[in-house]
Amino acid sequence: MNEPLTIALPTGRLGQQTITFLQKAKIISSLDTNSRKLKIVDQEQNITYLFIKPTDIATYVEKGVADLGIVGKDTLLEQNKQVYELLPLGIGQCIIAIAGFKNTILKPSKETLIVASKYPNITKTYFKSINQPIQTIYLNGSVELAPLMGLSDVIVDIVETGSTLKANNLAVLETVMTVEATLIASKTNYQFKYERIIQLLSKMKEALL
Ligand code: PRP
Repeated sequence: MNEPLTIALPTGRLGQQTITFLQKAKIISSLDTNSRKLKIVDQEQNITYLFIKPTDIATYVEKGVADLGIVGKDTLLEQNKQVYELLPLGIGQCIIAIAGFKNTILKPSKETLIVASKYPNITKTYFKSINQPIQTIYLNGSVELAPLMGLSDVIVDIVETGSTLKANNLAVLETVMTVEATLIASKTNYQFKYERIIQLLSKMKEALL
């Protein structure tokens, strides 16, 4: 019998892509992931799956409640949790961009730019690197509304298909970085369950090819 393992998976837009990837890696065979259950046990593989909001995944892994987790690199950069980053998975690829109305000037001389974002830390780091003073407005979602309503000059947000920006007459003004879903591990559990984790890691690496 395999050693038991607990894996935190994201709900939301990355959810289905993650399940498909784990099926491709032959880690998930048959599992009913369509229910509203937040914890599902795959008896055959001895793996417990937890379904968690992306922003909470690294907390479960950092605390060792989950051994492994799959989460966007954007969230990892923003949160700076104490976890190991084991493997970028090639899914959920998107960019973190500064976006706004097409003609917005990103470096208005000596003026403070107002920036709305779900990513205040990434935002502050980026604008500091280009020496642009900003005021950050933290939002939880529907960030594109902020420039439309005059709450901010620009936003810093993830862009995947670009359809949300387009639908709101906004455009990418600058790309900050590219991000993708990443496999993370609990620092403590990684040592205790090393062989089991390495076994899963190699299956995932094969699925990348
Ligand atoms: C994300 C992001 C953008 C949108 C980008 O929001 O914050 O709003 O997706 O995707 P697109 O380029 O494919 O249009 P999400 O859908 O996660 O919802 P939220 O606004 O509630 O955060």
